[in-house]
Amino acid sequence: MCGIVGYIGPKQAQNILLEGLSKLEYRGYDSAGLAVYNGETIGVSKSKGRLSVLEDKLKVQGLPGSLGIGHTRWATHGKPSDANSHPHVDGAGRFAVVHNGIIENYIELKEELIAKGHVFTSETDTEVIAKLLAELWDGDLVSTVKKVVSRLEGAYALGIISEYEPDKMVAVRQASPLVVGLGKEENFIASDIPAILKHTRDVHILEDGEMAVLTAEGVTLMKTDGTPVSREPMHVQWDVETAEKGGYDHFMMKEIHEQPKAIRDTLSGRVKEGLVDLTREVGLSEEEIRGIEKIHFVACGTAYHAGLVGKYVMEDLARIPVETDIASEYRYRNPIITDKTLVVVISQSGETADTLAALREAKKHGARVVAITNVVGSSVAREADDVIITWAGPEIAVASTKAYTSQLIAIYLLGLYFAKIRGTRPVEELKEIVKHLTELPGKAEEVLQTEQIVAEFARSIANHEHLFFLGRGLDYAVALEGSLKLKEISYIHSEAYAAGELKHGTLALIEENIPVIALATQQYIYDKMVSNIQEVKARGANVLGLAAEGDTELIKSVDRVIHIPKTIDLLMPVLTVIPLQLLAYYACTERGYDVDKPRNLAKSVTVE
Ligand code: F6R
Repeated sequence: MCGIVGYIGPKQAQNILLEGLSKLEYRGYDSAGLAVYNGETIGVSKSKGRLSVLEDKLKVQGLPGSLGIGHTRWATHGKPSDANSHPHVDGAGRFAVVHNGIIENYIELKEELIAKGHVFTSETDTEVIAKLLAELWDGDLVSTVKKVVSRLEGAYALGIISEYEPDKMVAVRQASPLVVGLGKEENFIASDIPAILKHTRDVHILEDGEMAVLTAEGVTLMKTDGTPVSREPMHVQWDVETAEKGGYDHFMMKEIHEQPKAIRDTLSGRVKEGLVDLTREVGLSEEEIRGIEKIHFVACGTAYHAGLVGKYVMEDLARIPVETDIASEYRYRNPIITDKTLVVVISQSGETADTLAALREAKKHGARVVAITNVVGSSVAREADDVIITWAGPEIAVASTKAYTSQLIAIYLLGLYFAKIRGTRPVEELKEIVKHLTELPGKAEEVLQTEQIVAEFARSIANHEHLFFLGRGLDYAVALEGSLKLKEISYIHSEAYAAGELKHGTLALIEENIPVIALATQQYIYDKMVSNIQEVKARGANVLGLAAEGDTELIKSVDRVIHIPKTIDLLMPVLTVIPLQLLAYYACTERGYDVDKPRNLAKSVTVE
């Protein structure tokens, strides 16, 4: 995830910025850069790779000066490279900007600015901000920033300096975190508190639509429309480790809570006039999309479980037959692939050896490959024909959470896009689904409120060695993911079953007091699911049911119910999985295991 640091004061900025960026390294990044005003001009140094590469460069040619901004980049628009690294400047180098987030309307802005003679040197969305600052310059930095911001759509945290007004730094926040640190005759900005904790514990946490104007002597807060904002600073008590985790005890919990944002960001810029538009990421022509005869979703682990949801989604929306395969099986099983087969590989890291090998196998057989991945410039992203990036930001905990829900969003987008082009659903119906899709971030916030009930249930299962997850249809796909999550971090053995399959053997394992987690969110199959729940309840199981909000029936058949905000059946997995992630988390902490680094597992499996 990108990181921002900024400094204004009497000291040399370079080392303060480098040190601040080093405190953000844990978030993951692919390049870094600084811009420092040296008394006459703004000097910029940036490079792809680790911070140490930038440090080596600065040892040869440093950046003197006491006003500066720094950035670590996690690529979104454009591959990791020196040119795409931040800070970005305007043509004359009078303004420098660092940015976290996504500018959704950057293509329109870029075209407009090119027509006015601006020359772009990177593939980023951020560069339009630097060029806009020059284009809209009216002799006053704060007023110009306001004009620029009024043209931007999307999410952004910005740090801006200009050689026209070198006694100032301007910071803006819209849907991307930014804090202002208050020092003695020096002030700071940062995307995360750890970057400035060494210098100050007094901070203003900017809210959406706010900006801060920093000088060495003080900080003024206002809304981007100019309305003054007055707020007492907050005194941070956290130590560095807690600050890195955003105040949570573990990265996994932080990442579970980041899901509303990850969903919102993954949707961002991909919905136009109420319908999905993926023409930027999927290069297939309309004729090619109409000609697809089969889709193979191929992935490992949690990403494979996203592919299982993909089967339902794609078949339902775009009416294309789908097979979902485990990558380590697919690569060796001589699958039937033709030039009318679309292979969709899903990988958070983009580096999983089996997924990459399956991708190569598919290409060798003439398939077109679309990658859904979280890492721009990863091997999977480079080798696929088309790439849909999930904008979840780096996932640090080994157990995948926000990457999974973002992968689901990417799959819905692809399904809705194909359905639009293939004409398999009326436009009005597609618009209705898109409307529900865009409501998911808010509903994900609501599901997070179930945390206490889930924690209580987790305590009741923590001493068990076996349990079952049951579901039908999409609930079964989510049950598989819930079961994997629980196994990998709490080490409780669990199995997920398609509920209708139980009586064909597994029902024999149900005995007095065994915990069962029963997902009953799919309305079309609800009655059948309730019958299956009664089968396990009759044999003494302790059942936690998951049902849609407003359900008053399920409680009659289970011991406890968690209600999930209502959306259409197709989209339920995004919400239903969240209590299951929380369950795994609390079962793990209850049993005293390491949440973020479970035994025997690695975050990225780059060997077979
Ligand atoms: C489980 C988990 C793994 C990964 C799998 C694939 O929580 O994280 O099952 O999903 O190793 O990894 P990626 O998505 O990086 O290819």
